[in-house]
Amino acid sequence: MSTFIVMLGPPGAGKGTQAKRIAQELGYPHVSSGDIFRENLKNKTELGKLAETYMNRGELVPDDVTIAMIKNRLSREDCDDGAILDGFPRTAAQAEALNRILAEMDAQIDIVPYINVPDSVLIKRLTGRWTCPVCGHMYHEEFNPPKEDLTCDVDGAELYQREDDKPETVKNRIQVYRDQTQSLIDYYQKQDVLVEINGNQEIGTVTTDLLKVLNQE
Ligand code: AP5
Repeated sequence: MSTFIVMLGPPGAGKGTQAKRIAQELGYPHVSSGDIFRENLKNKTELGKLAETYMNRGELVPDDVTIAMIKNRLSREDCDDGAILDGFPRTAAQAEALNRILAEMDAQIDIVPYINVPDSVLIKRLTGRWTCPVCGHMYHEEFNPPKEDLTCDVDGAELYQREDDKPETVKNRIQVYRDQTQSLIDYYQKQDVLVEINGNQEIGTVTTDLLKVLNQE
């Protein structure tokens, strides 16, 4: 039997941070739409060039492009037993598409942890985030700093700040989340798969809370 987990929450809630930790703990692949777009951007692919304009404005990449990309990713063998989805779905059309993709795989969404964090905290988290260009590990200059300034603890690479983490773009991303993604909380609540997690706690405590609910599944 497979297990598909959808991480839901506003930008900066800690979806990526937590998805990486629970992927390691539970052994499922971490499928992040944002990471796949950024990888394409780095490699200057056609998909990357298309996504870049939307991402830099803090807007969503069109549904048809995003859905095709995730369908392709989930068709890979490492997702046969399940996956942890982070950043997808983000619109009602994407949520419907995911149901269809999983039905074709004879699977379903098992649980949707919704990481809840107040807006004032989100802005601080995103504008202080530093990311490793090699392994994707995330740091925060105040809440989760690397051991050595601007250097990844895992592989020693120089950390960078994401283009879309500038204050103006961050505000737009949070607004886009309110307009297009927040309604999915209701959608998954009605399907009885939503579990709310307090994301405004220390990183390790959020992981403990998440693993508690995931291990009950
Ligand atoms: P994406 O990469 O998915 O960005 P996002 O949803 O905005 O989420 P973030 O990565 O910003 O935040 P997060 O919740 O993962 O938080 P993190 O763990 O990093 O998408 C980027 C763009 O790609 C979109 O704007 C869009 O253009 C496009 N895109 C992606 N998916 C799409 C889709 N499905 N459809 C259309 N377009 C799509 O944590 C943030 C910071 O806080 C870090 O510094 C971390 O160290 C720190 N932190 C985390 N947890 C804690 C804690 N508990 N306490 C203190 N600090 C913490």
